[in-house]
Amino acid sequence: MNILVTGGAGFIGSHFVLRHVEKHPEDTVVVLDSLTYAADKSFLDPVLNRIRFIQGDIAGFELVTTLIDRYDIEAIVNFAAETHVDRSIKNAVPFMHSNILGVHALIEVCKRSPKILLVHISTDEVYGDLQDGEPPFNERSELRPSSPYAATKAAGDLLLKAAIRTFGIRVRITRCTNNYGPHQDKTKLLPVIILNALQGKKIPIYGQGKQKRDWLYVTDHTDAVEFILQKGEDGGLYLISGDNERENIVVAKTVLKTLGKPESLIAFVPDRPGHDWRYSLDNRSMKKLGWKPTMKFEEGVARTVDWYTKKKGL
Ligand SMILES: NC(=O)c1ccc[n+]([C@@H]2O[C@H](COP(=O)([O-])OP(=O)(O)OC[C@H]3O[C@@H](n4cnc5c(N)ncnc54)[C@H](O)[C@@H]3O)[C@@H](O)[C@H]2O)c1
Repeated sequence: MNILVTGGAGFIGSHFVLRHVEKHPEDTVVVLDSLTYAADKSFLDPVLNRIRFIQGDIAGFELVTTLIDRYDIEAIVNFAAETHVDRSIKNAVPFMHSNILGVHALIEVCKRSPKILLVHISTDEVYGDLQDGEPPFNERSELRPSSPYAATKAAGDLLLKAAIRTFGIRVRITRCTNNYGPHQDKTKLLPVIILNALQGKKIPIYGQGKQKRDWLYVTDHTDAVEFILQKGEDGGLYLISGDNERENIVVAKTVLKTLGKPESLIAFVPDRPGHDWRYSLDNRSMKKLGWKPTMKFEEGVARTVDWYTKKKGL
């Protein structure tokens, strides 16, 4: 298969590219990434001579169609997005560009070449949050985004839903819970905890750290995307989660224990405006496809800590 991976130099996209090239050496893999602050092209170094890398914007219809034609692309896997909730609260404009106009451009590309399959990576955050004891969100749950980030992701999902019906394009949408692992930008929760702890700095935790997230190791997520690419149905919506809900404070303490650092480094800071309380997804659609998470949380945290500890420039 000839595939275009957008956002392939970011956290999750880079793991997808590395694993896809290893598992499917016969495929042509083209990576398109605009290289924002969250990207690091060097993540792709191990496979750089086996892929084509292009720096550019998914919202650029002409660039994307040129790549589609040049490499005879059969599927697009779209990881490209602005993703940091705190940044979206400060300025939502880049989020509207990548997460809405970017998706719109990909829809136009698929209208022009209707054989192309678009696997679009969305997020559980489009549903807003749950209170303790409420059942997990499912495919029929209402979209109630809380942050500008989540609102732009929900807008992208709705544009795709409309395009499936109006234009008959081939789309599969995924929504995943929180990921952790190597390659994540240093301003996200786990890297902040690890990097501050390594430097003996205070670790800021919003509120009392009681918010719950369902944590999934990044390669379990990319393996789920691979299942959906290979075995999913067009028009399908796939909810991916790790059956691994933990409070943020528990996550921080697990990292500190792994590093042998004291819990006294934790410093509670005023809560994020509109902060979601709890995320949880019903992942039965993924289990039906034959996927299940494989990484134990403590092992995944140990691998993540190891990667950041060895990373150059610390
Ligand atoms: N990180 C998580 O916990 C998580 C959970 C669920 C879903 N997701 C979704 O997974 C996808 C990838 O997330 P991530 O954590 O790897 O994000 P990331 O911020 O680490 O990487 C995003 C990548 O997209 C690129 N990019 C941004 N705008 C672009 C544009 N207009 N054109 C081309 N490239 C562009 C960036 O340069 C970067 O390499 C996103 O759609 C996100 O909503 C993430």
